[in-house]
Amino acid sequence: MNVPFFKTKLSETAIQAVTDVLTTGWLTSGEQSTLFECEFEKFIGGNVNALTVNSATAGLHLVLEAMVVGPDDEVIVPTLTFTASAEVVRYLGAKVVLVDIDPETLCGDFTAIEAAITPRTKAVVFVHFGGYPVDITPLISTCKRSGLRLVEDAAHAIPSRIGQKHIGTMGSDAAVFSFYANKPMTTGEGGMIITTNQKVASRCQLMRTHGIDRDTFARFTGKSHQWRYDVVEAGYKYNLTDIAAAIGRTQLQEVDKLRIGRMRNAEWYDTALEGLPLTKPPRPGVKSDHSWHLYPIQLHGGSKTREKVIRLFAEREIGYSVHYTPLHRLTYWAKTARIPQDGLPIADAYFDGCLTLPIFPTMTKDQNDLVVATLKEALFT
Ligand SMILES: Cc1ncc(COP(=O)(O)O)c(C=O)c1O
Repeated sequence: MNVPFFKTKLSETAIQAVTDVLTTGWLTSGEQSTLFECEFEKFIGGNVNALTVNSATAGLHLVLEAMVVGPDDEVIVPTLTFTASAEVVRYLGAKVVLVDIDPETLCGDFTAIEAAITPRTKAVVFVHFGGYPVDITPLISTCKRSGLRLVEDAAHAIPSRIGQKHIGTMGSDAAVFSFYANKPMTTGEGGMIITTNQKVASRCQLMRTHGIDRDTFARFTGKSHQWRYDVVEAGYKYNLTDIAAAIGRTQLQEVDKLRIGRMRNAEWYDTALEGLPLTKPPRPGVKSDHSWHLYPIQLHGGSKTREKVIRLFAEREIGYSVHYTPLHRLTYWAKTARIPQDGLPIADAYFDGCLTLPIFPTMTKDQNDLVVATLKEALFT
Protein backbone atom coordinates (compact mmCIF):
# COMPACT_ATOMS: atom_id res chain seq x y z
CA MET A 1 0.00 0.00 0.00
CA ASN A 2 1.25 3.46 -0.82
CA VAL A 3 -0.26 6.81 0.14
CA PRO A 4 -0.19 9.64 -2.40
CA PHE A 5 -0.05 13.19 -1.08
CA PHE A 6 -3.23 13.90 -2.95
CA LYS A 7 -5.58 12.12 -5.32
CA THR A 8 -8.50 13.66 -7.18
CA LYS A 9 -11.44 11.36 -7.72
CA LEU A 10 -14.07 12.87 -9.98
CA SER A 11 -17.62 11.51 -9.76
CA GLU A 12 -19.46 9.94 -12.69
CA THR A 13 -21.65 13.08 -12.68
CA ALA A 14 -18.58 15.26 -13.27
CA ILE A 15 -17.36 13.05 -16.11
CA GLN A 16 -20.82 13.11 -17.69
CA ALA A 17 -21.03 16.91 -17.29
CA VAL A 18 -17.75 17.33 -19.18
CA THR A 19 -18.89 14.94 -21.92
CA ASP A 20 -22.09 16.93 -22.25
CA VAL A 21 -20.16 20.19 -22.71
CA LEU A 22 -17.88 18.56 -25.28
CA THR A 23 -20.91 17.75 -27.41
CA THR A 24 -22.58 21.19 -27.22
CA GLY A 25 -20.20 22.87 -29.66
CA TRP A 26 -19.32 25.66 -27.17
CA LEU A 27 -16.27 24.96 -25.03
CA THR A 28 -15.17 28.27 -23.56
CA SER A 29 -16.93 30.67 -21.15
CA GLY A 30 -20.68 30.50 -21.74
CA GLU A 31 -23.73 28.95 -20.20
CA GLN A 32 -21.84 26.63 -17.83
CA SER A 33 -19.68 29.46 -16.48
CA THR A 34 -22.74 31.64 -15.87
CA LEU A 35 -24.59 28.81 -14.14
CA PHE A 36 -21.51 28.05 -12.04
CA GLU A 37 -21.39 31.69 -10.91
CA CYS A 38 -25.12 31.72 -10.02
CA GLU A 39 -24.87 28.45 -8.09
CA PHE A 40 -21.73 29.63 -6.29
CA GLU A 41 -23.45 32.87 -5.24
CA LYS A 42 -26.32 30.84 -3.79
CA PHE A 43 -23.98 28.41 -2.01
CA ILE A 44 -21.83 31.16 -0.46
CA GLY A 45 -24.73 33.47 0.45
CA GLY A 46 -24.28 37.03 1.68
CA ASN A 47 -25.51 38.58 -1.61
CA VAL A 48 -22.10 38.28 -3.24
CA ASN A 49 -21.33 38.62 -6.92
CA ALA A 50 -19.32 35.62 -8.08
CA LEU A 51 -16.99 35.76 -11.08
CA THR A 52 -15.25 32.74 -12.56
CA VAL A 53 -11.57 33.09 -13.46
CA ASN A 54 -8.97 30.67 -14.79
CA SER A 55 -6.96 30.68 -11.53
CA ALA A 56 -7.00 32.22 -8.07
CA THR A 57 -3.81 34.06 -9.06
CA ALA A 58 -5.77 35.73 -11.88
CA GLY A 59 -8.59 36.50 -9.44
CA LEU A 60 -6.28 38.11 -6.88
CA HIS A 61 -4.65 40.15 -9.65
CA LEU A 62 -8.02 41.35 -10.96
CA VAL A 63 -9.28 42.29 -7.51
CA LEU A 64 -6.18 44.32 -6.59
CA GLU A 65 -6.25 45.99 -10.02
CA ALA A 66 -9.89 46.90 -9.45
CA MET A 67 -8.84 48.47 -6.14
CA VAL A 68 -6.37 50.63 -8.10
CA VAL A 69 -3.27 49.27 -6.37
CA GLY A 70 -0.29 50.85 -8.10
CA PRO A 71 3.45 51.56 -7.92
CA ASP A 72 3.26 54.04 -5.03
CA ASP A 73 1.39 51.61 -2.80
CA GLU A 74 2.23 48.99 -0.21
CA VAL A 75 0.24 45.81 0.32
CA ILE A 76 0.54 43.74 3.51
CA VAL A 77 0.78 39.95 3.05
CA PRO A 78 1.52 37.22 5.64
CA THR A 79 4.82 35.49 5.02
CA LEU A 80 3.36 31.98 5.43
CA THR A 81 1.69 31.58 2.06
CA PHE A 82 2.18 30.54 -1.54
CA THR A 83 4.02 33.07 -3.69
CA ALA A 84 0.85 33.84 -5.70
CA SER A 85 -0.64 35.78 -2.76
CA ALA A 86 2.21 38.28 -3.06
CA GLU A 87 3.27 38.13 -6.74
CA VAL A 88 0.00 39.76 -7.85
CA VAL A 89 1.02 42.83 -5.84
CA ARG A 90 4.21 43.03 -7.91
CA TYR A 91 2.27 42.66 -11.19
CA LEU A 92 0.85 46.08 -10.29
CA GLY A 93 4.23 47.52 -9.29
CA ALA A 94 3.35 47.90 -5.58
CA LYS A 95 5.58 46.92 -2.65
CA VAL A 96 4.94 43.74 -0.67
CA VAL A 97 5.17 44.16 3.10
CA LEU A 98 5.53 40.80 4.83
CA VAL A 99 4.16 40.18 8.30
CA ASP A 100 4.36 37.34 10.81
CA ILE A 101 1.71 34.76 11.64
CA ASP A 102 -0.37 34.13 14.75
CA PRO A 103 0.74 30.76 16.19
CA GLU A 104 -2.87 30.06 17.23
CA THR A 105 -4.16 30.12 13.62
CA LEU A 106 -1.00 30.04 11.44
CA CYS A 107 -2.62 32.96 9.58
CA GLY A 108 -1.60 36.64 9.49
CA ASP A 109 -1.20 38.15 12.97
CA PHE A 110 -3.65 41.06 13.42
CA THR A 111 -1.28 43.05 15.67
CA ALA A 112 1.60 42.60 13.22
CA ILE A 113 -0.64 43.70 10.35
CA GLU A 114 -1.68 46.85 12.22
CA ALA A 115 1.95 47.62 13.11
CA ALA A 116 2.97 47.35 9.43
CA ILE A 117 0.52 50.04 8.24
CA THR A 118 2.15 53.19 6.85
CA PRO A 119 0.68 56.16 4.94
CA ARG A 120 1.46 54.22 1.73
CA THR A 121 -0.47 51.08 2.67
CA LYS A 122 -3.31 50.48 0.23
CA ALA A 123 -4.49 46.97 1.00
CA VAL A 124 -4.12 43.81 3.09
CA VAL A 125 -4.21 40.30 1.60
CA PHE A 126 -5.31 37.95 4.38
CA VAL A 127 -4.70 34.22 3.78
CA HIS A 128 -6.86 31.53 5.41
CA PHE A 129 -3.92 29.14 5.61
CA GLY A 130 -4.89 25.50 5.09
CA GLY A 131 -8.56 26.55 5.08
CA TYR A 132 -8.57 27.62 8.75
CA PRO A 133 -11.63 29.85 9.22
CA VAL A 134 -10.33 32.98 10.94
CA ASP A 135 -12.85 35.45 12.32
CA ILE A 136 -11.51 38.58 10.64
CA THR A 137 -13.95 41.02 12.31
CA PRO A 138 -11.16 42.89 14.20
CA LEU A 139 -9.10 43.14 10.99
CA ILE A 140 -12.09 44.54 9.10
CA SER A 141 -12.32 47.30 11.74
CA THR A 142 -8.59 48.03 11.49
CA CYS A 143 -8.80 48.26 7.69
CA LYS A 144 -11.91 50.47 7.79
CA ARG A 145 -10.29 52.79 10.36
CA SER A 146 -7.15 53.09 8.22
CA GLY A 147 -8.94 53.38 4.86
CA LEU A 148 -7.46 50.11 3.56
CA ARG A 149 -8.90 47.52 1.21
CA LEU A 150 -9.09 43.97 2.57
CA VAL A 151 -8.84 40.97 0.25
CA GLU A 152 -9.18 37.41 1.53
CA ASP A 153 -7.01 34.83 -0.16
CA ALA A 154 -9.48 31.98 0.35
CA ALA A 155 -7.62 29.63 -2.03
CA HIS A 156 -7.82 26.85 0.61
CA ALA A 157 -11.04 27.85 2.30
CA ILE A 158 -14.05 26.23 0.67
CA PRO A 159 -16.17 25.24 2.47
CA SER A 160 -14.89 26.98 5.59
CA ARG A 161 -17.48 28.73 7.72
CA ILE A 162 -17.89 30.50 11.01
CA GLY A 163 -21.38 29.68 12.17
CA GLN A 164 -23.46 29.81 9.01
CA LYS A 165 -21.20 32.38 7.34
CA HIS A 166 -18.80 31.33 4.63
CA ILE A 167 -15.29 32.74 4.51
CA GLY A 168 -15.46 35.78 2.27
CA THR A 169 -18.83 37.01 3.55
CA MET A 170 -17.84 38.71 6.82
CA GLY A 171 -17.29 42.16 5.34
CA SER A 172 -13.96 42.16 3.47
CA ASP A 173 -13.88 43.87 0.06
CA ALA A 174 -13.41 40.63 -1.88
CA ALA A 175 -12.33 37.01 -1.52
CA VAL A 176 -10.79 34.64 -4.03
CA PHE A 177 -11.05 30.82 -4.07
CA SER A 178 -8.78 28.43 -5.99
CA PHE A 179 -9.95 25.39 -7.93
CA TYR A 180 -6.43 24.13 -8.68
CA ALA A 181 -6.16 20.33 -8.98
CA ASN A 182 -5.47 19.55 -5.31
CA LYS A 183 -7.74 22.17 -3.76
CA PRO A 184 -10.85 21.33 -1.66
CA MET A 185 -12.89 21.56 -4.86
CA THR A 186 -11.37 21.59 -8.31
CA THR A 187 -11.87 22.45 -11.96
CA GLY A 188 -8.32 21.33 -12.86
CA GLU A 189 -7.26 24.97 -12.97
CA GLY A 190 -9.65 27.75 -12.02
CA GLY A 191 -10.86 30.16 -9.40
CA MET A 192 -13.73 32.33 -8.23
CA ILE A 193 -13.85 35.95 -7.10
CA ILE A 194 -16.61 36.97 -4.71
CA THR A 195 -17.41 40.55 -3.76
CA THR A 196 -20.39 42.62 -2.67
CA ASN A 197 -18.80 45.73 -4.17
CA GLN A 198 -20.50 46.38 -7.53
CA LYS A 199 -17.67 48.60 -8.77
CA VAL A 200 -15.06 45.94 -8.05
CA ALA A 201 -17.23 43.26 -9.68
CA SER A 202 -17.77 45.32 -12.86
CA ARG A 203 -14.10 46.18 -13.18
CA CYS A 204 -13.04 42.54 -12.68
CA GLN A 205 -15.59 41.44 -15.28
CA LEU A 206 -14.29 43.95 -17.81
CA MET A 207 -10.61 43.18 -17.22
CA ARG A 208 -11.17 39.41 -17.17
CA THR A 209 -11.67 39.41 -20.95
CA HIS A 210 -9.32 41.90 -22.59
CA GLY A 211 -11.13 45.08 -21.48
CA ILE A 212 -13.84 44.29 -24.07
CA ASP A 213 -17.14 45.94 -23.22
CA ARG A 214 -19.33 43.01 -24.33
CA ASP A 215 -19.63 39.38 -23.35
CA THR A 216 -18.15 37.03 -25.98
CA PHE A 217 -20.83 34.36 -25.54
CA ALA A 218 -23.61 36.94 -26.04
CA ARG A 219 -21.80 38.34 -29.10
CA PHE A 220 -21.58 34.98 -30.86
CA THR A 221 -24.88 33.51 -29.79
CA GLY A 222 -27.22 36.50 -29.50
CA LYS A 223 -30.13 36.56 -31.91
CA SER A 224 -29.41 40.15 -32.89
CA HIS A 225 -26.02 39.22 -34.43
CA GLN A 226 -24.27 42.10 -32.73
CA TRP A 227 -20.72 41.80 -33.98
CA ARG A 228 -19.63 45.23 -32.75
CA TYR A 229 -17.64 45.66 -29.54
CA ASP A 230 -15.36 48.25 -28.06
CA VAL A 231 -12.10 47.86 -26.14
CA VAL A 232 -12.03 50.30 -23.26
CA GLU A 233 -8.93 49.06 -21.37
CA ALA A 234 -5.88 46.85 -21.94
CA GLY A 235 -7.34 43.87 -20.07
CA TYR A 236 -6.28 40.28 -19.47
CA LYS A 237 -7.28 36.81 -20.64
CA TYR A 238 -8.51 35.32 -17.38
CA ASN A 239 -11.85 33.67 -18.24
CA LEU A 240 -12.76 30.09 -17.23
CA THR A 241 -13.75 27.54 -19.91
CA ASP A 242 -17.16 25.86 -19.85
CA ILE A 243 -15.38 22.49 -19.65
CA ALA A 244 -13.86 23.56 -16.33
CA ALA A 245 -17.07 25.24 -15.16
CA ALA A 246 -19.02 22.01 -15.75
CA ILE A 247 -16.62 20.17 -13.41
CA GLY A 248 -16.92 23.06 -10.93
CA ARG A 249 -20.72 22.81 -10.85
CA THR A 250 -20.59 19.13 -9.89
CA GLN A 251 -17.78 19.68 -7.38
CA LEU A 252 -19.82 22.42 -5.71
CA GLN A 253 -22.65 19.91 -5.19
CA GLU A 254 -20.18 17.54 -3.54
CA VAL A 255 -17.97 20.00 -1.65
CA ASP A 256 -19.55 19.48 1.78
CA LYS A 257 -19.26 15.71 1.40
CA LEU A 258 -15.62 16.07 0.32
CA ARG A 259 -14.96 18.21 3.41
CA ILE A 260 -16.37 15.49 5.66
CA GLY A 261 -13.93 13.00 4.10
CA ARG A 262 -10.99 15.28 4.89
CA MET A 263 -12.32 16.10 8.36
CA ARG A 264 -12.61 12.38 9.19
CA ASN A 265 -8.91 12.02 8.35
CA ALA A 266 -8.06 15.07 10.47
CA GLU A 267 -9.90 13.48 13.40
CA TRP A 268 -8.07 10.15 12.96
CA TYR A 269 -4.76 12.03 12.92
CA ASP A 270 -5.73 14.16 15.93
CA THR A 271 -6.38 11.05 18.03
CA ALA A 272 -3.42 9.00 16.80
CA LEU A 273 -0.86 11.80 17.13
CA GLU A 274 -1.83 12.68 20.72
CA GLY A 275 1.21 12.73 23.03
CA LEU A 276 3.82 12.67 20.24
CA PRO A 277 6.60 15.29 20.16
CA LEU A 278 4.81 17.47 17.65
CA THR A 279 2.20 20.22 17.46
CA LYS A 280 -1.01 19.37 15.65
CA PRO A 281 -2.72 21.89 13.36
CA PRO A 282 -4.93 24.48 15.04
CA ARG A 283 -8.58 23.53 15.45
CA PRO A 284 -11.28 26.15 15.08
CA GLY A 285 -14.20 26.57 17.51
CA VAL A 286 -17.01 24.01 17.53
CA LYS A 287 -19.34 26.33 15.61
CA SER A 288 -16.89 26.59 12.70
CA ASP A 289 -16.35 24.38 9.65
CA HIS A 290 -12.73 23.89 8.58
CA SER A 291 -12.16 22.85 4.96
CA TRP A 292 -9.12 20.80 6.12
CA HIS A 293 -7.32 21.50 2.86
CA LEU A 294 -4.06 20.83 4.70
CA TYR A 295 -2.96 18.92 7.81
CA PRO A 296 0.33 20.63 8.77
CA ILE A 297 2.17 19.35 11.86
CA GLN A 298 5.19 20.93 13.57
CA LEU A 299 7.83 18.40 14.62
CA HIS A 300 9.45 19.47 17.88
CA GLY A 301 12.76 18.04 16.72
CA GLY A 302 12.88 20.64 13.92
CA SER A 303 14.33 20.24 10.45
CA LYS A 304 16.64 17.32 11.38
CA THR A 305 13.68 15.25 12.52
CA ARG A 306 11.75 16.32 9.41
CA GLU A 307 14.55 15.02 7.19
CA LYS A 308 14.42 11.67 9.00
CA VAL A 309 10.64 11.44 8.60
CA ILE A 310 10.79 12.46 4.94
CA ARG A 311 13.43 9.83 4.18
CA LEU A 312 11.26 7.08 5.66
CA PHE A 313 8.12 8.44 3.94
CA ALA A 314 9.95 8.37 0.59
CA GLU A 315 11.13 4.79 1.22
CA ARG A 316 7.55 3.68 2.06
CA GLU A 317 5.98 5.69 -0.81
CA ILE A 318 4.06 8.03 1.45
CA GLY A 319 3.35 11.47 0.02
CA TYR A 320 4.06 14.61 2.01
CA SER A 321 4.64 18.30 1.43
CA VAL A 322 5.93 21.39 3.20
CA HIS A 323 3.55 24.36 3.40
CA TYR A 324 5.31 26.67 3.03
CA THR A 325 8.83 27.96 2.98
CA PRO A 326 7.90 31.43 4.31
CA LEU A 327 8.15 34.04 1.57
CA HIS A 328 10.90 36.03 3.34
CA ARG A 329 13.19 33.00 3.01
CA LEU A 330 12.84 32.91 -0.78
CA THR A 331 15.30 34.83 -2.97
CA TYR A 332 12.91 37.18 -4.77
CA TRP A 333 10.96 38.19 -1.68
CA ALA A 334 14.08 38.53 0.48
CA LYS A 335 15.32 41.04 -2.12
CA THR A 336 12.13 42.98 -2.84
CA ALA A 337 9.72 42.79 0.10
CA ARG A 338 9.77 44.89 3.25
CA ILE A 339 10.56 42.61 6.17
CA PRO A 340 10.52 43.80 9.83
CA GLN A 341 13.97 44.53 11.29
CA ASP A 342 13.63 41.85 13.95
CA GLY A 343 12.53 39.33 11.32
CA LEU A 344 9.50 37.04 11.30
CA PRO A 345 10.32 34.66 14.18
CA ILE A 346 6.97 32.89 14.53
CA ALA A 347 6.90 31.82 10.89
CA ASP A 348 10.58 30.82 11.15
CA ALA A 349 9.90 28.66 14.22
CA TYR A 350 6.90 27.05 12.49
CA PHE A 351 8.91 26.40 9.32
CA ASP A 352 11.76 24.70 11.19
CA GLY A 353 9.78 21.50 11.75
CA CYS A 354 6.63 21.80 9.66
CA LEU A 355 5.44 18.89 7.56
CA THR A 356 2.11 18.48 5.76
CA LEU A 357 0.63 14.99 6.01
CA PRO A 358 -1.56 13.59 3.24
CA ILE A 359 -5.25 14.34 3.68
CA PHE A 360 -7.70 13.78 0.87
CA PRO A 361 -11.38 12.83 0.89
CA THR A 362 -11.00 9.20 -0.19
CA MET A 363 -8.02 8.42 2.04
CA THR A 364 -8.77 5.26 4.03
CA LYS A 365 -8.24 4.48 7.72
CA ASP A 366 -5.57 1.94 6.69
CA GLN A 367 -3.71 4.63 4.77
CA ASN A 368 -4.06 7.02 7.71
CA ASP A 369 -2.74 4.32 10.09
CA LEU A 370 0.23 3.68 7.81
CA VAL A 371 1.18 7.38 7.79
CA VAL A 372 0.99 7.52 11.60
CA ALA A 373 2.93 4.25 12.08
CA THR A 374 5.67 5.41 9.71
CA LEU A 375 5.87 8.78 11.43
CA LYS A 376 6.20 7.08 14.83
CA GLU A 377 8.88 4.74 13.49
CA ALA A 378 10.89 7.73 12.22
CA LEU A 379 10.45 9.60 15.51
CA PHE A 380 11.40 6.77 17.86
CA THR A 381 14.07 4.69 16.07
C1 LIG B 1 -2.65 30.46 -0.55
C2 LIG B 1 -2.73 30.40 -2.04
N1 LIG B 1 -3.08 31.50 -2.71
C3 LIG B 1 -3.21 31.51 -4.05
C4 LIG B 1 -2.94 30.39 -4.80
C5 LIG B 1 -3.05 30.44 -6.28
O1 LIG B 1 -4.04 29.57 -6.74
P1 LIG B 1 -4.11 29.18 -8.29
O2 LIG B 1 -3.20 28.02 -8.49
O3 LIG B 1 -5.55 28.83 -8.50
O4 LIG B 1 -3.71 30.37 -9.06
C6 LIG B 1 -2.55 29.21 -4.15
C7 LIG B 1 -2.25 27.99 -4.92
O5 LIG B 1 -1.79 27.01 -4.48
C8 LIG B 1 -2.43 29.22 -2.74
O6 LIG B 1 -2.07 28.12 -2.08
